[in-house]
This record gives sequence, structure tokens and C-alpha cells, in this order.
Amino acid sequence: MRRIRKRKENQLEISRQIEKIDKIIDRYEERFKDGHKVLIELFQDINQEFNYIPKESLIRISKRCGIPLSRLFSLAKFYNSFRLEKIGKHHICVCAGTTCHINRSDKIIDELRSRLKIEPGHTTEDENWTFETVHCFGVCAHGPLVEIDGNYYHKVDLKKLDEILKKYENDK
Ligand code: FES
Repeated sequence: MRRIRKRKENQLEISRQIEKIDKIIDRYEERFKDGHKVLIELFQDINQEFNYIPKESLIRISKRCGIPLSRLFSLAKFYNSFRLEKIGKHHICVCAGTTCHINRSDKIIDELRSRLKIEPGHTTEDENWTFETVHCFGVCAHGPLVEIDGNYYHKVDLKKLDEILKKYENDK
């Protein structure tokens, strides 16, 4: 029963998204012949509206404008400023750079993989967490380094990680 309700809610959410996406596409449709630059502007508007680029929007652009979907995906993936996945309520980022790795940041990454049940680059199903890794935060002497919602935590081990996460989890 709950699954059916969830599916209906998702369908409703997608319909609302499509309505908004169509309105944004309307503003650009005339200019699609201008190529690449217009698509970037369109992506920026979609990104601003949703805080990411829903896959549904690429499908709509492809259908309405006759641009191959693969081209739209490659373009959106090429730019770091665009995300193809919704961002969770909290954003956690672990440094996987050499110095942090030597100080066992791999243990932190593995713990988060198993605790959040996602791989880096993804968002949990309940949309509470988006988990990512970076190559270096530039403060290597303080590693392993973890950043959550703009707050930096130094010399994080599994015990400290547990304490930090509890703080954010209690804040749900
Ligand atoms: S390697 Fe982690 S902060 Fe530089």
C-alpha cells in the first residue's frame, strides 16, 4: 500500500517537474539552431530551478528539439557545475587524496559506503545524504579530512565519524 502511494507521489512529482521543464524549454526553443551555447543557458536555468538537472529534462529537450539524448547527457556531464542527481539534505565529502589516504581515509569512505548504502557520487534514497570524494582539500596535514555542509572535520577516524554523523542524523 505504502509502495503504491510512494509511486503515485513520484509520478505526480515527475508531472510537476515536466510542466516546469516545458516552460523553461519554451523560452529557448526558437534559439536551438544557435547550438551549444543555448543548451548551456538552458541547463543553467534548469539547474537553478531544481538545484540539479533531472534526467527527465534531458529526455524532454531531446524529444522537443530533436537533439540526441546521448549528446545532451555528455554535455551535462562535461561541466562540473551541473549535477544529474538530486542533492541530499546533507552533503558529505571525504578527501581521497594521497596524504589522507595514507592516514586511512579509505576506512572512512568504506564506512560511509556501508552506512549510507551508496557509492560516492550518489544520494541516499531518503535524500538525506549526498556522498562524494575529492582529490585534495589543500590542508593535507590535517587529514583524513571530511567536509559536511561546509563544515570541516580534521583527523577523522571511525569513532569521530560516528560522533559527527550522529549530530547530523539527530538534526533530521
Ligand atoms: S590529501 Fe587530503 S587534504 Fe590534501
